[in-house]
Amino acid sequence: MKDWREIYKHKIVTADEAVKHIKSGDRVVFGHACGEAQEITEALLRNKERYEKVEIIHFVPMGKGEYAQKENQKYFYHNSFFGGGSTREAINGAYGDFTPSFFFEVPKLFEAGGKLPVDVAIIQISSPDAHGYCSYGISCDYTKLAAEHAKMIIAQINKHMPRTLGNSFVHLSELDYIVEYDQPILQLTPPKIGETEKKIGEYCASLIRDGDTLQLGIGAIPDAVLTFLKDKKHLGIHSEMISDGVVDLILAGVIDNQKKTINRGKCIVGFLMGSQKLYDYVDNNPSVELHPIDYVNHPFIIAQNENMVSINSALQVDLMGQINAESIGAKQFSGTGGQVDFIRGASMSKGGRSIIAMPSTAAKGSISKIVMNLDRGSTVTTSRNDVDYVVTEYGIAELKGKTLRERAKALIAIAHPDFREELTRQALDKFQTLN
Ligand code: COA
Repeated sequence: MKDWREIYKHKIVTADEAVKHIKSGDRVVFGHACGEAQEITEALLRNKERYEKVEIIHFVPMGKGEYAQKENQKYFYHNSFFGGGSTREAINGAYGDFTPSFFFEVPKLFEAGGKLPVDVAIIQISSPDAHGYCSYGISCDYTKLAAEHAKMIIAQINKHMPRTLGNSFVHLSELDYIVEYDQPILQLTPPKIGETEKKIGEYCASLIRDGDTLQLGIGAIPDAVLTFLKDKKHLGIHSEMISDGVVDLILAGVIDNQKKTINRGKCIVGFLMGSQKLYDYVDNNPSVELHPIDYVNHPFIIAQNENMVSINSALQVDLMGQINAESIGAKQFSGTGGQVDFIRGASMSKGGRSIIAMPSTAAKGSISKIVMNLDRGSTVTTSRNDVDYVVTEYGIAELKGKTLRERAKALIAIAHPDFREELTRQALDKFQTLN
């Protein structure tokens, strides 16, 4: 679009000018994860004295999260759907809170007349194309839908935001205030893959077949799984998010999306978190499409992929197979995210499987993650009815179709050897026999 700055000059403002249109008590939704509009967040903080209790809704916090710090509680109130290092204290303290929800259902909450109508969406987007369309870049997920439902959109146009394709665009005419500000996009530091993660990755890879479509959760384990898939053929991606590891497998010809039953030939993704390598790869690349989360994570859509395999992690698993993936005791650690969306979608998919993969212990081996009962106050993220395979560095427990006693036996067999005796004793107290 020629002279877009001329056409939309009435909308172009500095970040400090833009945030002056936000009022005390407004509900403000931030663009997701590495897609956060950092300059506008900084402007909110610079101008904080103007506000009282602006509600900030955000998911995975990859920026500084200063809006959730105690010294800013007078100005901001953080309503989280997914905690992280910078927001955990607020969520579990008196100056923040957490809203439980399946990820695919979040956009419905944001609708006008919905449960959490949005006053302001603060988004970060690519430079406009010749027709005036900007791409949501690395975060389409809930971000696009929050913006579509918001009473006001403040957008940071950043030339470093890749132009991703798919259902991932907004037109300049829809924006209320445009802040032109170039700065590096937030990146995800690659996780450390140790021997434990490698063993887990190897077991997970043994459950994956040529032609499967994969969802990969966040963290070291999905990355480790990818390193063991180099000999597979015609894998596909339909995933809430992807990171750098997927690019290596696309370039190696392992992921080609050719056997997918929907969206053939395309990786379908909600958001991206990785290094510049990933961001460069997806720029203007028709083989990777970003879509809103009510499509990517909808179990009915996921299920239309035959041979759908989901791989996610957990903090604790009890001997019935209940999965806690988001709290440590009563303290909210992360969030439900798309775990259940994908486990249910994979379960309904013809030939589908779901995997929960985690190290057998935490805290340097002092705590077993497989337990008789979840810790008091813990969240059940995935129910025992939904769980399918559980994998640790000691093997694979297949739980679907198994009785409670059989589940206990299968899970004890993949617990760390140091904890098996105690777990067996506790299980026998309940079941009298494990035979
Ligand atoms: N008891 C106490 N502490 C525990 C624990 C337990 N049972 N299990 C883990 N921890 C601690 C670890 O020691 C670690 O502490 P540290 O940061 O001090 O080292 C911390 O909790 C995180 O554990 P880790 O195993 O490194 O987590 P991770 O980064 O691999 O993430 C989940 C695992 C489950 C938190 C993460 O996958 C998640 O949030 N999942 C829910 C949403 C989801 O699955 N989304 C999928 C689509 S993206």
